[in-house]
Amino acid sequence: MSIDQDRIPRKTLCSGEKIPAIGLGTFGSDKYGADQVAEAVLGAIRYGYRLIDCASVYQNEDRIGQVLRQVVQEKTVTRSDLFVISKVWNDMHAEGQVIISCKKSLQDLGLDYLDLYLVHWPFRNYHAPGCSGDSRNPDSKPFSPDEFMETWQQCEELVEKGLVRYIGMSNMTIPKLEAVLPRCRIKPAVLEMELHPSFQQPELFDYAVSRNILPIGYCPLGSPSRPERDRTDEDVVDMELPAVVEAARAHGIHPAEVCLKWAVQRGQVPIPFSVKEHQYKSNLKCITEDPLTEEEMEAIRLEDRNCRLIKGQVFLWEGSKGWEDLWDVDGKITGLE
Ligand SMILES: NC(=O)c1ccc[n+]([C@@H]2O[C@H](COP(=O)([O-])OP(=O)(O)OC[C@H]3O[C@@H](n4cnc5c(N)ncnc54)[C@H](OP(=O)(O)O)[C@@H]3O)[C@@H](O)[C@H]2O)c1
Repeated sequence: MSIDQDRIPRKTLCSGEKIPAIGLGTFGSDKYGADQVAEAVLGAIRYGYRLIDCASVYQNEDRIGQVLRQVVQEKTVTRSDLFVISKVWNDMHAEGQVIISCKKSLQDLGLDYLDLYLVHWPFRNYHAPGCSGDSRNPDSKPFSPDEFMETWQQCEELVEKGLVRYIGMSNMTIPKLEAVLPRCRIKPAVLEMELHPSFQQPELFDYAVSRNILPIGYCPLGSPSRPERDRTDEDVVDMELPAVVEAARAHGIHPAEVCLKWAVQRGQVPIPFSVKEHQYKSNLKCITEDPLTEEEMEAIRLEDRNCRLIKGQVFLWEGSKGWEDLWDVDGKITGLE
């Protein structure tokens, strides 16, 4: 049995268009292969998911494309029912490269257009998929507004060519946004950012919402299967936070479901990943019923520990002090001359 679409909450984009309030992540975390992820996308769409978060660097868009063709052919959905996201990876930002990357994603996904195309990371600093946490690229550089705008202008052209419907940014900070937003002809429709109970980014979240940019929250469950390179001893386990566990007990549900209810009720679009049928099904179903109380929402708000999990240290440049430099923790763009 699938979930009735009318029961799935929706969020509104700047254009007024409504999109599902939850989606399916597709990054296998170097742990789940393309076939497993594609199988999950198939089961998830049949169950009622419509928003799918893909990326060229996840190395599974071709397999997901076969599934997208299948669900349209079998009439589970029409193309316009789906909201498919992809992202340009850091090695494809230079002049003329973004369109090549976008067309490759379109070809792999078997689509004529993407609903949303994101700049995955706001710089060209490249690391190969699956690299270790201490690997560094000697060519890496700090964020450059001019370089970013060169990439963004190519994204704007994709909209004008009809290859993508919306464009957005990911892994941004307020100082970076302040530097580039006034220069955008087409504003970002969304900001994809790490968001979970122990990492709520309230300032960046409010900044986006106040500018009519919809936050999409990645790692909504605290990414328990994330790669080794993204683990440190200080990391908090979201599903063990007292307010999350307490709400799970009160509602008789798994803590994962509490994290997702919290995310949707707060206002972001969470994109949980799972290849396990019972998990991806409960992740969608939970947001259609039995909401958290105001008190539970407030108790979870107070669990924010500023615990960033995806620190991005593999993108650091020579001379940078540590992963905090990527996130402009001093309130200005780190490394900018
Ligand atoms: N824009 C970016 O830079 C960026 C960065 C990171 C991620 N993302 C996107 O965000 C998506 C989600 O992030 P993520 O995969 O890192 O983290 P996540 O969704 O927070 O965690 C996924 C893991 O949580 C567990 N899980 C899922 N549902 C569960 C349930 N109902 N009960 C218990 N455990 C459950 C599964 O672990 P087990 O496999 O161990 O069961 C699964 O692998 C990615 O797939 C990707 O699409 C984007």
